[in-house]
Amino acid sequence: MQYKNLGRSGLKVSQLSYGAWVSFGNQLDVKEAKSLLQCCRDNGVNFFDNAEVYANGRAEEIMGQAIRELGWKRSDVVVSTKIFWGGPGPNDKGLSRKHIIEGTKASLKRLDMEYVDVIYCHRPDSSTPIEETVRAMNYVIDHGWAFYWGTSEWSAQQITEAWGVAERLDLIGPVVEQPEYNLLSRHKVESEYLPLYTNYGLGLTTWSPLASGVLTGKYKKGNIPADSRFALDNYKARLNLLYSSLAVLNLAGRSLVDDVLKKVDGLTPIAQELGVPLSQLAIAWCAANPHVSSVITGATKESQIVENMKAVDVIPLLTPAVMEKIEAVVQSKPKRPDSFR
Ligand SMILES: NC(=O)c1ccc[n+]([C@@H]2O[C@H](COP(=O)([O-])OP(=O)(O)OC[C@H]3O[C@@H](n4cnc5c(N)ncnc54)[C@H](OP(=O)(O)O)[C@@H]3O)[C@@H](O)[C@H]2O)c1
Repeated sequence: MQYKNLGRSGLKVSQLSYGAWVSFGNQLDVKEAKSLLQCCRDNGVNFFDNAEVYANGRAEEIMGQAIRELGWKRSDVVVSTKIFWGGPGPNDKGLSRKHIIEGTKASLKRLDMEYVDVIYCHRPDSSTPIEETVRAMNYVIDHGWAFYWGTSEWSAQQITEAWGVAERLDLIGPVVEQPEYNLLSRHKVESEYLPLYTNYGLGLTTWSPLASGVLTGKYKKGNIPADSRFALDNYKARLNLLYSSLAVLNLAGRSLVDDVLKKVDGLTPIAQELGVPLSQLAIAWCAANPHVSSVITGATKESQIVENMKAVDVIPLLTPAVMEKIEAVVQSKPKRPDSFR
């Protein structure tokens, strides 16, 4: 496992990391979480991601308890959480000074930690001035509750504005962004953010490298494995909203859905030629992007972690010729319905 600087910062994060979304609190409790976290550590992972909203805070409790019971030295690991959706009240969400400070304190309490290494603004908040958010994040850092701050799914313009405020006020700007990035979702990382890497030394910790498991090839049309994420009742509807392109899951027959599954089918032989599972190819492809500091993986089983972490060995196999083959599959456009012709 390689350790990369988080953008221009001095913080070293493992090239592959592990996050708690969906799994902690929905599919796994402390006992299973302990085995999975330890399996990650055994494979060299030092960075673990969470959020106040995951399982309504339960994911942070599970991760905190598991790490405590595993007896890890706090300084050996990098733990992050994200603030935005903290509860139902009008002041329990967003990026006001009030919610950032109250949300951070509540997260630390659930994690039972004195600090997180990185704290993210989980989404942009158009109803709060960015200056208020930048000042509040600096307050959090100045109090030692976090060492670095970042954003998640902000636009390049919003990140630029945050940096403008930070530079004007001599404050710390966001060192990292956490966008979705995988073979099916690439725009922000590969186009929109390009100026930010050089202008601000922005690092990336990217999410859903397997598009929630779709890029393992395990989802076939009309077939959702019973022990998989898309079989979870409470996530089906949400995921369909989040990933409208994967509305597959109960809206089979949509052209875009067919397109996604066609791409997965097209990628499978490329992985086979390399003699690796598609999951490893998909994760390695994300990690091969030099702007990516860490690819945040997810897993519900140790076997998945063992498989996914081997993706680091697949990165050198991604020669220009292989990348070209991959591009030919993922860039292929879906056929327009007849009515559009
Ligand atoms: N900032 C944000 O807005 C945001 C949004 C989403 C995620 N994230 C972060 O990114 C992390 C990773 O996202 P993600 O969980 O969506 O990642 P992912 O890699 O796209 O999906 C992970 C899921 O796919 C399945 N899977 C993983 N490896 C597999 C394998 N080898 N074979 C078969 N199935 C496999 C598992 O689910 P099943 O076994 O249940 O099918 C696993 O939980 C999250 O935990 C979170 O920390 C951030």
